[in-house]
Amino acid sequence: EYKMILDLDTGIDDALAIAYALATPESDLIGIVGSYGNILVEQGVQNSLDLLEMLIHTEVPVYQGLSHSSTTDHFDVMPISAQIHGKNGIGEVEIPTAKRKAETMSGPDFFIEAAHKYGKKLLIVPTGPLTNLAAAIKKDPEIVNLVGRVTLMGGALTVPGNVNPVTEANINQDPEAADFVFRSGIPLTMVGLDVTTRTLLTTKETQKWRDLGTFAGQKYADIVDYYIDAYKVTSPHLGGCALHDPLAVGVAVESSLVTTLALDMKVDTEGPYAGRTIGDETKVNNPNPISKAAIGVNKDKFLDEFMEKLTKLFAE
Ligand code: BDR
Ligand code: CA
Repeated sequence: EYKMILDLDTGIDDALAIAYALATPESDLIGIVGSYGNILVEQGVQNSLDLLEMLIHTEVPVYQGLSHSSTTDHFDVMPISAQIHGKNGIGEVEIPTAKRKAETMSGPDFFIEAAHKYGKKLLIVPTGPLTNLAAAIKKDPEIVNLVGRVTLMGGALTVPGNVNPVTEANINQDPEAADFVFRSGIPLTMVGLDVTTRTLLTTKETQKWRDLGTFAGQKYADIVDYYIDAYKVTSPHLGGCALHDPLAVGVAVESSLVTTLALDMKVDTEGPYAGRTIGDETKVNNPNPISKAAIGVNKDKFLDEFMEKLTKLFAE
């Protein structure tokens, strides 16, 4: 059985990633690390705690991570993030405040501890900036050879970025950390905009959750409807909201959901292409690239499994 750690900037699709991970029996969710991005780190940690309590999964510990990139001294939420995820990160929807608090161990230290404990069984799924994972690898470089795989939501290879033409939001928050992780030698699959903008949800699906009549079903429907409305404004060409973060969870446990390109990648850290994910020109002759980029997705299979698992979880 796999062990999974999510590293989230708990906004709306991150909230779906939590639910999807809980509903995926092939892996055991052993912890959530909190990051910044859609929200400030403290809000993200609180959202994760509150969502876990609403889903009656208070056995999953939450660890606070770093609050900003190593190249900046603070972080402010971008207005566009607040527009897409709501000021509280979960679509301005109120849910009960969790009774428990985050653990005292830091997010990066939790990665290190889990890597030594679970080795190849450990699946790391970052769906926010790569700041925490980079910090963990810097502190204990050995972990790159211990863990099973990093399956991250971030980047864009065959389509433009969503922050600007070259960069995707998670990578854009901390290009240095992303470049460090990409070139660290850790086995990595990039689940970027190439595939996540093809897995879409509409109000037809959220209505099914609302119709369950359960508290969690109604709250998740309200939260995701906010995101669907935001996508109508920011990305009307898509016709739904992108299931960025849950797709990374799906690919982590079921790699056949995507077709991949074996490619050693890097991230540009400065100049006009800062934040771009691209093949590393110094490794083009490496016969066995360590990383993969998802470039195709079996979207019907993913969406069927996603709806089946989440509807079951919200019905409980
Ligand atoms: C990514 O950025 C965040 O806003 C989303 O939660 C997702 O992880 C999409 O670019
Ligand atoms: Ca995210």
